[in-house]
Amino acid sequence: MTQDILFSPYQLSQDLILKNRIVMAPMSRCMATDNFIPTPEMADYYARRASTGLIITECTMISPTAQGYPNSPAIFNQEHVAGWKQVTQKVHENGGKIFAQLWHTGRVSHPIYLNGNKPLAPSAVALTGRVKRTDNLQYEEPKEMTPSDIQAVINDFAKAAKYAKEAGFDGVEIHAANGYLLDQFLHWDTNRRNDHWGQSPENMSRILFDVINAVKQQIQFVGVRLSPVAYLNIEHDERDKPVFDYVLEQLNQYDLAYVHTGMFDDSYQDHLQSTATHYIRQHYHGNVIACGGYNSESAREALLNNDADLVAIGRPLIANPDYVEKTRQNKNLTPYDVGMLNTLV
Ligand SMILES: Cc1cc2nc3c(=O)[nH]c(=O)nc-3n(C[C@H](O)[C@H](O)[C@H](O)COP(=O)(O)O)c2cc1C
Repeated sequence: MTQDILFSPYQLSQDLILKNRIVMAPMSRCMATDNFIPTPEMADYYARRASTGLIITECTMISPTAQGYPNSPAIFNQEHVAGWKQVTQKVHENGGKIFAQLWHTGRVSHPIYLNGNKPLAPSAVALTGRVKRTDNLQYEEPKEMTPSDIQAVINDFAKAAKYAKEAGFDGVEIHAANGYLLDQFLHWDTNRRNDHWGQSPENMSRILFDVINAVKQQIQFVGVRLSPVAYLNIEHDERDKPVFDYVLEQLNQYDLAYVHTGMFDDSYQDHLQSTATHYIRQHYHGNVIACGGYNSESAREALLNNDADLVAIGRPLIANPDYVEKTRQNKNLTPYDVGMLNTLV
């Protein structure tokens, strides 16, 4: 019998072999302490999922200016490092690998999280609507970042990567997807700058490449998550595709662990004329992680079609810590329910 591709090992890099092709997608749980320290319960939660080939943590704040939600974990001081050490140790004891997702929310924040200061963003363009996880606060106009704000964020990504290495992570993922700060630079809706960081694909992606370079100096394995489709926290603009064509082509020159699709539903997109993952694969020649609504069958298909090398699974892994074992044995999965987000099982 031939081996099921889902459970075949994958060499992400010469020094990093994953035991199967199933990745745990990053999923924010907002269960860290009020000082953003990962808890022992979080360590157990991740360790229970160590049978996946790779775990990518929930988004993790790189600095106090990065916050946009209550009780997100962070990685900008030694207490955070100590908290994350418990997580990485338990995952490693159970035979898993784990990357930290490094994150800045940009305009998807509110002064209540920032000591009364305005959120930082490429341009002073507010997100409309209610601030998530609050009763009635509305998003407000962010502050257009100055060149020194931009440099500070690049430095904060690098420091966070250094802390991640100290905390025992196998690598980091730079969160440049889902409408957060780095993604805000990559889309025309949110980037209206007229300087060195706006108005052209090269300028709009400058901060991303500066962050990658700075982070690579701190830790060997670096992945990048991208949303070529504006689907969350950002409006679509016809000029976005050339930005992502450029970004993906340029990424070929970087020694990255992978590029990861940032989507909730990786279905056909008219303006890309393919799924987001297929589009990434066409332009980027390194490892690709598909994500967004995959089940074991569609995951297998994406691997066999060579659309992706790995497939990230999100909600089904919240509902089924033993997703890998159940899938291997063809057992029924527990359906995901949003109520499951109330506890760390
Ligand atoms: C509760 C929840 C929290 C999420 N938090 C994050 C996050 O922290 N970082 C991120 O990049 N994506 C986040 N996502 C998106 C997932 O990584 C993934 O793209 C999405 O769930 C689609 O995959 P799925 O259909 O397998 O669930 C989150 C999704 C859910 C359901």
